[in-house]
Amino acid sequence: MTELNLVLLGPPGSGKGTQGERLQEELRLPYYATGDILRAAVRDETELGKLAKEYMDRGNLVPDDVIVGAIAERLSSGEATDGFILDGFPRTVPQAEALADKLSELGRELTGVLLIDAGDDEVTRRLGGRRTCVKNGHVFHVEFNPPQREGVCDVDGSELIVRDDDKPDVIGNRLEQYHAKTEPLIGFYDERGLLRRIDGRAAPDEVSAELRGTLETLKLEANGAI
Ligand code: AP5
Repeated sequence: MTELNLVLLGPPGSGKGTQGERLQEELRLPYYATGDILRAAVRDETELGKLAKEYMDRGNLVPDDVIVGAIAERLSSGEATDGFILDGFPRTVPQAEALADKLSELGRELTGVLLIDAGDDEVTRRLGGRRTCVKNGHVFHVEFNPPQREGVCDVDGSELIVRDDDKPDVIGNRLEQYHAKTEPLIGFYDERGLLRRIDGRAAPDEVSAELRGTLETLKLEANGAI
């Protein structure tokens, strides 16, 4: 089987993390979610975390060179030779160009970019009601996916919190950043024949089913069967 090198693209709150976790389990590929990587760095007070914190708290993107280095390191590490799932990277055109350069240096290329989209009103509702597990980042929603016990993670029993950047005044800025800096990637990848659109407004299981179908097609294309 040809390697599967995937990018999950979409606005904040569209369900990239929810679907990324499911895909990781199904495909058994390394899953690199830049938001999770940065939050862990902030929690551990590493140099990367100290640099990223003030950008993240305000809902701004961290500088390109900071995040490009962190992803390039992982792609070169040898753990992603059968493929990978990138969630939240690239998020600007310079990041997309840096990713293409890195993959070309490794003699590889992207298999597909999966755009999970949902309108601004819907993602605002999702981010406003999201509750995140403080220990391992498991995600719930007060209305759409409530935990069995309020405030407690079903998976590992740790506390559920509201992320600092899920507070109402920050959500608006994250959406502005998305439209200004990340949305141009839709055209960037469409021109290269890599973009596949997934309707993120549907229920999580329906989104997963559509993703599975798209991946089957991508695999057939990658193997030259269609
Ligand atoms: P990051 O953590 O990547 O945030 P994001 O892209 O804004 O994405 P989210 O995690 O908020 O949303 P999601 O799409 O994963 O949705 P989820 O599945 O949780 O990045 C955070 C920050 O890090 C950035 O602001 C930036 O500062 C920095 N950063 C990260 N990458 C960077 C980069 N490359 N360059 C520069 N800076 C970078 O779902 C949301 C909610 O909806 C949940 O409650 C969930 O339960 C619910 N839900 C999910 N799917 C559905 C559904 N189908 N129906 C109903 N509810 C649903």
